[in-house]
Amino acid sequence: MRVPQAASGQADMTAFEDKKVFVKTYGCQMNVYDSNRMMDSLATRGYSPTEDMNEADLVILNTCHIREKAAEKVYSELGRIRQIKEKREKDGKGEMKIGIAGCVAQAEGQEIIRRAPVVDLVVGPQAYHMLPDLLERTNGGARVVETDFPIEDKFKALPAAKKEVTRKRGVSAFLTVQEGCDKFCTFCVVPYTRGAEVSRPVAQIVSEAKGLADAGVREVTLLGQNVNAYHGEGSDGRDWGLGELLFELTKIEGLDRLRYTTSHPRDMDDTLMAAHRDLDCLMPYLHLPVQSGSDRILKAMNRQHSYEDYVRLIDRIRSARPDIALSGDFIVGFPGESDEDFEQTMQIVREVTYASAYSFKYSPRPGTPAADDENQIEDAIKSERLYRLQDLLNAQQKAFNASKLGEEMTVLLERKGREPGQLVGKSPWLQAVQVDAPDNLIGEIVTVRIDTVGSNSLFGTMIDPAR
Ligand code: 5AD
Ligand code: SF4
Repeated sequence: MRVPQAASGQADMTAFEDKKVFVKTYGCQMNVYDSNRMMDSLATRGYSPTEDMNEADLVILNTCHIREKAAEKVYSELGRIRQIKEKREKDGKGEMKIGIAGCVAQAEGQEIIRRAPVVDLVVGPQAYHMLPDLLERTNGGARVVETDFPIEDKFKALPAAKKEVTRKRGVSAFLTVQEGCDKFCTFCVVPYTRGAEVSRPVAQIVSEAKGLADAGVREVTLLGQNVNAYHGEGSDGRDWGLGELLFELTKIEGLDRLRYTTSHPRDMDDTLMAAHRDLDCLMPYLHLPVQSGSDRILKAMNRQHSYEDYVRLIDRIRSARPDIALSGDFIVGFPGESDEDFEQTMQIVREVTYASAYSFKYSPRPGTPAADDENQIEDAIKSERLYRLQDLLNAQQKAFNASKLGEEMTVLLERKGREPGQLVGKSPWLQAVQVDAPDNLIGEIVTVRIDTVGSNSLFGTMIDPAR
């Protein structure tokens, strides 16, 4: 996985020796996107990615802070990395620098430098465009922390990936359009680690999306911590919402599939609803977390909507796009959650019916209001509730997958499957689909009839290799 440097012709590439960077990504899709952008930025200084930490001149852990033990995981991983670093340096293979990025970096900052002498650099998510310069500042042994939210536009400063690099990353890509959150749910660290809501201007997003399409990307997932609160500057100088942005992106040739994640129920406006109704390329899948079915708990979580509001919203979405599959996030054992509250969560799941879902035990995050609540729930109760909820959600997911048996659907073929002659792709509803197909069809959207439904994927036969 080397960036071909001789072909680049860029003057600054020749000024730096060829180096390797190993990036380990934790957490959400935005971190996956950020890791790629960090690698693009480091590529301008001669770094190419490696999957072998032993040969890395630079190791970056792109961390997640959303649930507990995140920081502890980072410190224990650092222990392991230190051994590799020491061995590498003893073997005379050169220095290995270590950087911590992502939300643990943002939340812990200086504390990481204090606790982990092996770390050279701590960089928060808003400062990734400064990464090469920050790294340079560590030359000569200085240890650098950059966790302020600088005012410069990081996205403007981050270089785009080269076409061949984008192509290698696959035919489905992420594109961050919005970052941060102003909602302040009382359990959540995001407003503190990622900061206030910021939307990228439409032109910047369109230009990045065109670059992706040019490189052969067929599906783009727009990312944001609160993506449907998107309000970026449009071509007419007004702020556009996510719906308007989606309509604009459909004009890009080659981008046949659009998705977005993750959303808040309060921000589903009429234009976004219309996008679901009118745009074939907007995939019929929506991740719309509700977290709890209890009005009392929703209020304590500061979610700003009720059980009824959510169910009515789902009805409206389903009338706009009847085949839409829903996905959600749930938290059990939020402080003060009674058996009745939890039953309301079970009830909303039964009423809405999800195609897939993520569910978690509440985990107190330092600095968030709910962490200071005295009515914390015992772990044994949380475990029991999580077990029951997941049982129900798994049954719904199985039923959803089973409902596709015998159905014909379009599948974007993404990569080789486990068996020779097999490819793996994605259904419109984000299910993995395995098909017998030749490698040259990777990147094509084909029609597949589903013959078998497994626990994690669907198996089908290709009907029409053309689009
Ligand atoms: N405890 C448990 N789950 C949480 N999430 C966010 N914060 C917490 C927390 N403190 C979950 C929510 C959110 C998802 C990304 O992670 O369900 O939607
Ligand atoms: Fe966290 Fe999402 Fe709530 Fe924002 S809307 S505070 S990111 S859970």
